[in-house]
Amino acid sequence: MDPLTRRDGLATILSSFAVYALVGEARAASKRGNVARWIDEQQALASSLAAGRINGPSWSAGVERLAAQVELEELWAEIARARVAPAGKGSANDPSKRHVRFLDEQGAPHKLSYGVALFDFAPDNVITPHGHRHMVSAHMVVKGAFRIRNFDRVGDEPGAMLLRPTRDYVAKAGEVSTMCSERDNIHWFVPQGGPATTFDVVVSGLDAGAPDYDIKAVDPVRGERLTGGVIRAPIIDFDESSRFYTAAV
Ligand SMILES: [Fe+2]
Repeated sequence: MDPLTRRDGLATILSSFAVYALVGEARAASKRGNVARWIDEQQALASSLAAGRINGPSWSAGVERLAAQVELEELWAEIARARVAPAGKGSANDPSKRHVRFLDEQGAPHKLSYGVALFDFAPDNVITPHGHRHMVSAHMVVKGAFRIRNFDRVGDEPGAMLLRPTRDYVAKAGEVSTMCSERDNIHWFVPQGGPATTFDVVVSGLDAGAPDYDIKAVDPVRGERLTGGVIRAPIIDFDESSRFYTAAV
């Protein structure tokens, strides 16, 4: 091989490395583009809900549709680039909460009208049954699996909520569980078969003149059974809820 050909050969090899690297970068960028679009679509849904252009069940349906469109690997890669900070611990068997702030291409925090958090569950951690006001939320399973129980909130009484059971199922990674005022307002999460994590999207401050949100623990298991499948579930404090609603319940 003469020196010129050898040099050409080397140049070809080097340039194919460069092309390979570029293709790799383009692939990574387009994957990041998928997640960036997904974050923007969550934003479109959250702002439409906050502006009253859509109602809670429409928001839920939109978020459920989006859950099917994201690759968990790509979402985890985006979370790895985000600012993630511990949010402190609540009651005894609560999961560990971390706030997530997504960053744009320049590394600045995205301005979003929804909050994002990760909940890391040890096998004995539980999100005990509770109801909400003035907010909606979506818990997407991103690791492990959960038994999820939901109830509609069909009425309120002093010291109690009237509940009707709606769902009791096991959700695996990639599935999302949503709640709003109109549907599945009460939720309850117990990890199944080991540690598990949810990725949460929360839109609060939905009712002008009201607090941003109101979250109260309820006790459906020891509630009074009424006619029509309705349960009068007493409102209890979160410490009592944590004591009774262990992972074994
Ligand atoms: Fe909740």
